Amino acid sequence: MSKKSNLVLRTPFRERLCHWAVVLCFFLAATSGLSWFYPSFSWLSSFLGTPQLARVLHPFLGIAVFVGLGYMFTRFVKYNLPAKTDLIWFRNVKGVILNNAKQPLKIGKYNAGQKVLFWLIMLSIVTLLISGLIMWRAYFAEFFSIPVLRLAILIHSVAGIGLILLILGHIYLAIWVRGSITGMVTGYVSKAWIRHHHDRWHEELQATKKDVKEGKA
Ligand code: HEM
Repeated sequence: MSKKSNLVLRTPFRERLCHWAVVLCFFLAATSGLSWFYPSFSWLSSFLGTPQLARVLHPFLGIAVFVGLGYMFTRFVKYNLPAKTDLIWFRNVKGVILNNAKQPLKIGKYNAGQKVLFWLIMLSIVTLLISGLIMWRAYFAEFFSIPVLRLAILIHSVAGIGLILLILGHIYLAIWVRGSITGMVTGYVSKAWIRHHHDRWHEELQATKKDVKEGKA
């Protein structure tokens, strides 16, 4: 076990709370959405009580996911902007997977793969929101023609499946990189974890020693 002095705050409380609230709302929105794809999936709506309740709550849960991710966007975007050093990560992706990269990868607070995932998640949720509002029968669908509604339903379905697949990948990687889920639960990661997975962030923290405890570099 790491001593507290050996830990660095990676994700503050409000961001963690928002992340886990998004996880809950996303789970309920995704399962209810999937329940309408095939009759054999219909049991998936039971997480929201009844199929009728799922029908009513699904759009509101989707909006909650959008709002939560909107907040996360404002807090995390600065760490997910492209950097020249991301090219080193892409060139050495095999070494990353096999855990035997031959050179320092110069990884900042988030690696290039996480950055790509971040932007794809944000793109998917915006697509889901726009297409979802258009097809929302209770409020907006009547303002659009049938071909537009059909297109919105197609786009909503593709973006929904796409986001579910991205999140399955995100969960797999979170489990794969030991210590990262603990980081998202407690907020803290060890200095050894940072040195191993985010070498450039580690160097930046070292350079601004006073901020090391807060993980602010
Ligand atoms: C059980 C499900 C999930 C688990 C275990 C999980 C785990 C994690 C972990 C461990 C991190 C921090 C990674 C790090 O510190 O390097 C993270 C970040 C993040 N997660 Fe999740 N997550 C889950 C579901 C979701 C869902 C459903 C969404 C959105 C729909 C989401 C969006 C994000 C975003 C946007 C970040 C910030 C990543 C970045 O800034 O690049 N997560 N997640």
